[in-house]
Amino acid sequence: MEGKDSRDPHLDHGIQDALFRGLLAVLDSGQDATEMLAAVENFSRRHFEAEEHLMENHGYPNIDEHRAEHHRLLDEVVAMCALGPADPGLPEAVARVMAGMRTHIDEVDGKLVAFLAAQESPPPGRA
Ligand SMILES: [Fe+2]
Ligand SMILES: [Fe+2]
Repeated sequence: MEGKDSRDPHLDHGIQDALFRGLLAVLDSGQDATEMLAAVENFSRRHFEAEEHLMENHGYPNIDEHRAEHHRLLDEVVAMCALGPADPGLPEAVARVMAGMRTHIDEVDGKLVAFLAAQESPPPGRA
């Protein structure tokens, strides 16, 4: 999406994506991915919590749907990490969860970012 980073000042999606890419790189190199798996799981949990606090603090109207998506995604992340670093299906699982995370960022987080941007920049005459 064009300009995603510049529209995304509140959310650490660059870090999230980098962690997933780092995890794939570690798997690709054949090194032990135990620490990267833990880092991805911990960051995902904390990222979702931070986003949910942000939604609460700003009175975001779609918080219930968004939170349910986080629960679904976190379940996928936890299941992926539970496979363990030696599971031959892990790279495919990581790629699948990463794709789901990117879809969430584009579609679900994108609506939140637009909402926050509108709150920060009300239309002329409504400030
Ligand atoms: Fe997010
Ligand atoms: Fe989200």
